[in-house]
Amino acid sequence: MEKFVIRGGKPLHGEVTISGAKNAAVAIVAATILCDEPCVLENVPDISDIAICMKILRSMGAVVNPVTKNTYYFDTRSIREPKVPYELARSMRASTYFLGTLLGRFHDAYVAMPGGCDLGDRPIDQHLKAFCSLGAQYELENGEVHCYADGLIGSQIYFDINTVGGTINAIMASVKAKGLTIIENAAKEPHIVDLANFLNSMGADIRGAGTDVIKIRGVERLKGITYGIIPDQIEAGTYMVAAAATRGHVVIKNVIPKHLESITAKLRKCGVTVIENDESVIVSASGDLLTTNLKTMPHPGFPTDMQPQFSTMLTLAEGTSIITDDIFDNRFKYVSELRRMGADISVDGTVAVIRGKGMLQGAPVVASDLRAGAALIIAGLAAEGVTEVDNIHFVERGYECIDKKLQGLGADIKRVAAPDTNHMRMSG
Ligand code: EPU
Repeated sequence: MEKFVIRGGKPLHGEVTISGAKNAAVAIVAATILCDEPCVLENVPDISDIAICMKILRSMGAVVNPVTKNTYYFDTRSIREPKVPYELARSMRASTYFLGTLLGRFHDAYVAMPGGCDLGDRPIDQHLKAFCSLGAQYELENGEVHCYADGLIGSQIYFDINTVGGTINAIMASVKAKGLTIIENAAKEPHIVDLANFLNSMGADIRGAGTDVIKIRGVERLKGITYGIIPDQIEAGTYMVAAAATRGHVVIKNVIPKHLESITAKLRKCGVTVIENDESVIVSASGDLLTTNLKTMPHPGFPTDMQPQFSTMLTLAEGTSIITDDIFDNRFKYVSELRRMGADISVDGTVAVIRGKGMLQGAPVVASDLRAGAALIIAGLAAEGVTEVDNIHFVERGYECIDKKLQGLGADIKRVAAPDTNHMRMSG
């Protein structure tokens, strides 16, 4: 076990390069199962969720080899058994994507009910409903979901709620189904568009990704290609907020500014300067931060995956900010840790009221999930004194080399051995 020790109070300065998007990569790596030839993925982030995806592929017989840093070769033709090992599936939410891809290729899939960050109850009823619309059936057998079909037939899928994972799984399962599938009330996140672009480059026929109606005409074969994964919107947003919270000046490179618009707009409301270039943004803050209210929404609204980091920054603005986040049940777990650092935040269900005091003090804190961990690191960077962030394995699920990237910006952050804190370990 390791933890980060951060000596705070130093403004971040310099340039940081953003890695490939975790939530696009976990879908696209799983989607290599649908490809009838080998393919190569570039800009693959070096994070533990991706390492698990690759382990899952290899465990089923696929060949996955590094080519250069962040570039991998995939040949999934050698997969024989459409079954994800139980322990690997349980460790990651995105393992559900193997249900869609295995069903799409083999018409048969065994995947354990997923784990991942503990954000409360995270059902997959909409995923299963989509598979059933295509003619599949499913059973729950000893903690595993078994989905199977004689053949998949294109159909109309209407999602009752906005679901990123459900939309991705519906695309995966229908890309080789016979005929036309129409997904209504589809999610619009950038990683859904990236997945569709990957599949279309291989010969799929997917139209409308990025809107709430996606039309997919099934194809028989997908050819091998080389494809580069988009930059991570949330990693970029995290560095933007870290720059603002420390009153720094940071050039954030390898980004798609359009994907960052909701974050940029909110930062500007807080008095932060954000300059957008073609593939970079420059964030600088020098004076007092201003308060703002925030409600998370599906894309293009403000992402729930940025709420903990942004709320942490708002504890450094003097005055009251009200945060509403009802996408998951457990998205305010970091608040009790921030209180140790002197933050004044009350939470009632899905609403948090932050009474910012303009400062935080260093303290030992524990990450409860990926974005909570990122928020506590930002708190430590901005706080006076020393902050120790424990349970950093959560952070490593989604941030490539976060300590090295922050050191490159002048932060005093060190990785040190930590005693096992089993009492706080959630499903990884
Ligand atoms: N939901 C259902 N039934 C379903 C699916 C979802 O009730 O069948 C509910 C969820 O419980 C939640 C809401 O619908 O309340 C939205 O869930 P969604 O399916 O959109 O989320 P997800 O696919 O499980 C992805 C990201 C999350 C991100 C959310 C929202 C991946 C691997 N995960 O999760 O990312 O917070 O979309 O944008 O793409 C993270 O990166 O830290 C993270 C948690």
